[in-house]
Amino acid sequence: MSDIEEFFKWSDEYSVGIAEIDKEHKELVNILNRLFVAVSRREGHKVIAGILDALLAYTQTHFALEERLLQQAQYAGLAEHKEEHRLLIAQLDSLCKKFMVDEKPIYFEMLSFLRTWLREHIRGSDTKYSAALSRAGFSTAAWAEDAEFAFAEMASTRRQWWKLWQPA
Ligand code: FEO
Repeated sequence: MSDIEEFFKWSDEYSVGIAEIDKEHKELVNILNRLFVAVSRREGHKVIAGILDALLAYTQTHFALEERLLQQAQYAGLAEHKEEHRLLIAQLDSLCKKFMVDEKPIYFEMLSFLRTWLREHIRGSDTKYSAALSRAGFSTAAWAEDAEFAFAEMASTRRQWWKLWQPA
């Protein structure tokens, strides 16, 4: 698994200080690492399609939950943050479409773009809202409980995509 760890190695510098958000970010990193390995090893269309599906679904759910948190906290930078999310989803959507519909290979440039985007977004915009919520004394406890429930529900209603990217 050393090649997985090298692509995007999680460290405390990516922590935003909200446990549930960190957990979700780590999952995104895991899925991206799994995609990198699958592409490097040319693991076949079905496997890569499953990982891409997982990446898109998990990202959409994470963004929706994070935006719900910012809404609840009445965060002033919500609109700007949502726009950053929207643009990334459009990029991911385009990547999925190119691969699944147009049958274009995934290039490492795109994976590097996703890694850079995730690193900069977490250390920039996400860290910024976390600091603002902390300064305002906003408790994330109720939101975190809802978020856990939302992911559990998603896992039970969608096909078992998470199994596709679990490390072997
Ligand atoms: Fe954690 Fe704004 O994405």
